[in-house]
Amino acid sequence: MKFFVDTADTAEIRDLAATGLLDGVTTNPSLIAKSGKKFLDVVAEICTIVAGPVSAEVTANDFDTMLKEGRKLAGIAKNVAVKVPLTVDGLKTCKALSDAGTMVNVTLCFSPAQAILAAKAGATFVSPFVGRLDDIGTDGMKLIEDIVTIYRQYPAFRTEVLVASVRGPMHIVESAKLGAHVVTAPASVLKQLFAHPLTDKGLAQFNADWKKTGQSVL
Ligand code: E4P
Repeated sequence: MKFFVDTADTAEIRDLAATGLLDGVTTNPSLIAKSGKKFLDVVAEICTIVAGPVSAEVTANDFDTMLKEGRKLAGIAKNVAVKVPLTVDGLKTCKALSDAGTMVNVTLCFSPAQAILAAKAGATFVSPFVGRLDDIGTDGMKLIEDIVTIYRQYPAFRTEVLVASVRGPMHIVESAKLGAHVVTAPASVLKQLFAHPLTDKGLAQFNADWKKTGQSVL
């Protein structure tokens, strides 16, 4: 399973990249606005930190402008994955860009039917938003189960399931159990994966007992 971080904060990205566990980055217009930086500059900077896919989202809603924006974003670095919304124009853009060899992440997926369309349009990734479905009282993880099941029926579908809108570690664990290819989560959630109170307690005990021996390894 690949781990992407969902942020445009380059300090956070550098911090996580140093763990060696970071496979890519996703951004969206809201995260770019939060960073306070210029869109094209921040995407270029992120692409120097992480070798894996870096999702950069188009801002237009019509096919012609989306395609122009997508080509411009793809020109920033080889590891840019152009992010397009799951609309008719977004999927037309996805098809045109993926036919030209550009990675595409189809975002704002909320149904299995939409995920089928993304795969048919040649998406590299489809991003189902589990947290936002949970927020409206539905079961976000059920969508992941449905998409993974459907994609498995069609080996010709090369699209990877990128679980997005992740709110906590259990979304990640459940995604792994279902066989989703990628999760993208805020840095705070990825850091929660390391933590367990029994790890802290056990380490404190080992440290205390080791000190009593008066020995040193080095
Ligand atoms: C995915 O690529 C999106 O940027 C993201 O996961 C959205 O998450 P949110 O619902 O927490 O905004």
